[in-house]
Amino acid sequence: MTIARPETMARPIPRRSTENVLVVGATSGIAEALCRRLAVRGCHLVLAGRSVGEVARVATDLKIRYGIDTHVEAFEALDFESHPDFFRRCLARVDGDLTGVILCHGFMADQRRTEGDFTQARRTIDVNLTSAVSLLSHAANYLEGERWGYIAVIGSVAGDRGRRSNYTYGAAKAGLATYLGGLRQRLHPAGVHVLTIKPGFVDTPMTRGLLDPKSPLVASPSRVARDIDRAIRSRKDTLYTPWFWWPILGLIRSLPESLFKRIRL
Ligand SMILES: NC(=O)c1ccc[n+]([C@@H]2O[C@H](COP(=O)([O-])OP(=O)(O)OC[C@H]3O[C@@H](n4cnc5c(N)ncnc54)[C@H](OP(=O)(O)O)[C@@H]3O)[C@@H](O)[C@H]2O)c1
Repeated sequence: MTIARPETMARPIPRRSTENVLVVGATSGIAEALCRRLAVRGCHLVLAGRSVGEVARVATDLKIRYGIDTHVEAFEALDFESHPDFFRRCLARVDGDLTGVILCHGFMADQRRTEGDFTQARRTIDVNLTSAVSLLSHAANYLEGERWGYIAVIGSVAGDRGRRSNYTYGAAKAGLATYLGGLRQRLHPAGVHVLTIKPGFVDTPMTRGLLDPKSPLVASPSRVARDIDRAIRSRKDTLYTPWFWWPILGLIRSLPESLFKRIRL
């Protein structure tokens, strides 16, 4: 086993005026909060999502509040054929190089529905995993060629261990984490940073009605966005957010399968 050093020192993330970041799933609760932090730093943003009107609303708000350049692109995760052209359009939008690619889109079906309806299970896998693999194949090749930048992708603590309450979604996020681990190794010699983000419970439209937002275990999107922004800047590999999910998941992963299968979780 060899430890590869970057052939050239990783270039630092560029300063305010030159950072161009693509945010996919820009209407997500976490993405909106993260975009605000990126905008405060002066990053120019290409915002992508399937509801172009909603993405445009986010883009206009950021432009007015923070004076950054924003561009809007339509993105449908399940339309894999459209991804190469989508990525080319995003590159054409920016003035200079694209320095960061952040994937925030995701889909969580009710677990019971995925058990009785394969289309729901397949959609869960395809939105969370297949579409990321499809899109990142283009983004990774581009950044590797540039020898520059970062990729940050929102997975989930649900991927750390299969639980009866959400193992289809968890399987997609587990596959995503494994894919990102390999991608990180591949891109490290080129100085491209890959961040795997593992939030716990977050109060967003995805979990509305499922969680008590007042619970100490439920984080706000702005708290999670702050952690993600810091992890990008410090070139962290894996982020559990909020931090306390790291020991919790450490404990859950350590339980033997013979015991774990008897627990209702
Ligand atoms: N909330 C949590 O507790 C939690 C915990 C762990 C991980 N996560 C992950 O965090 C990420 C952000 O989710 P969120 O919590 O911010 O939830 P959210 O507000 O519901 O955002 C989900 C995003 O995914 C987009 N999306 C869904 N299906 C899509 C498709 N087929 N094509 C393109 N975009 C699609 C949605 O677009 P529309 O606006 O058009 O619907 C929306 O922008 C997801 O990856 C999620 O799995 C969330």
